[in-house]
Amino acid sequence: MKVDAVIFGASGYGGGELLYWLSRHPHVQSVRGTSRQRSGEAFWECHPNLRGIVDGCFESCIPWDSLAESEQPVVFSALPHGELKRCIEKLELAWSSAGLSQRLLVIDLSADFRAGPFTYGLPEWNRAAIQRTRRIASPGCFATALQLALLPLRGLDLGFIASTAVTGSSGSGASASAATHHPVRANDFRAYKVLSHQHLSEVRAAMLKCEIRGELAFVPQSGPFVRGIFATAQFRLPDGLDAAAIEVRTHEVFDHEPFVRIVEESPRVAAVAGTNFADIAVAADENSAVVLVAIDNLGKGMAGQAVQAMNIALGLDETLGLWQPGRFPV
Ligand SMILES: NC(=O)c1ccc[n+]([C@@H]2O[C@H](COP(=O)([O-])OP(=O)(O)OC[C@H]3O[C@@H](n4cnc5c(N)ncnc54)[C@H](OP(=O)(O)O)[C@@H]3O)[C@@H](O)[C@H]2O)c1
Repeated sequence: MKVDAVIFGASGYGGGELLYWLSRHPHVQSVRGTSRQRSGEAFWECHPNLRGIVDGCFESCIPWDSLAESEQPVVFSALPHGELKRCIEKLELAWSSAGLSQRLLVIDLSADFRAGPFTYGLPEWNRAAIQRTRRIASPGCFATALQLALLPLRGLDLGFIASTAVTGSSGSGASASAATHHPVRANDFRAYKVLSHQHLSEVRAAMLKCEIRGELAFVPQSGPFVRGIFATAQFRLPDGLDAAAIEVRTHEVFDHEPFVRIVEESPRVAAVAGTNFADIAVAADENSAVVLVAIDNLGKGMAGQAVQAMNIALGLDETLGLWQPGRFPV
């Protein structure tokens, strides 16, 4: 199969990560990317790591007819929230006019369609549905980490679940703001959107579908590193369940998952940075348990996971283009 990929918002952090992963993918024969501000510039001018490796220039828009002969066109949308939703009707019409609609796979990395008509793209939870769809909403980065933490707890009533997740600065995208600018966050550590982060509804929806009962409280935090999320979910052990049972459940759910690694000590952000892996550990005493998860927000939390979903939707080996470790130390 020959894939022709288009990235909306290719100049952003997610767009750069997609260019990186897709350019190494054995089935991807071409990658194009859009940017409003950098149209005509080479990709490497914005993503210097790709210099000499990934050819091509940013385009302001894509003439869809040029993909009419493509065996398998795929669109990744890495635009800010609201942008794809705003133009999806026009795009669907344009895709239809170019004869692309039926075979075009669309993967949105924003929150626009996570609670809507697209298929939710968390492979470890929704693989069967991803295999049958041509429209995928890739999960949020915090939501990915927390859902992976909770997946082994399917069918349980957990009472109160206290969760936290600390993210690196790339989670805020390429444009600096007063709260995300390097000088104000490089040597700081703080919580934000306490108990009110937008990913809560995404995680609660997954809990409902996985019949995990419990009150989920979430404290997101901003950490002094660039890539990565470190998340914890803590709860009282339900009656009849001990530490060993939680560990058995974790192995049952993840032993066959290519991108989830169960680790004995604490997961480490530095061990997953630059990869599509999620490292998970479970610890428990006689009263309570905690699941700890580390992912790269731009990898398993975003672009890597989107490429994994593409592989699944196209019936390819889901590790293609993604099977590699990061560097250590980062
Ligand atoms: N960063 C993460 O860790 C992460 C994780 C999971 C999901 N996400 C989601 O993925 C999406 C992309 O995130 P990101 O971090 O890559 O963002 P980003 O670095 O800010 O990049 C956004 C991209 O969209 C383009 N853009 C900005 N405003 C636009 C507009 N109004 N219309 C069209 N294009 C516009 C920008 O380029 P031009 O201005 O040149 O057009 C840029 O290429 C967001 O929805 C984000 O919430 C991010």
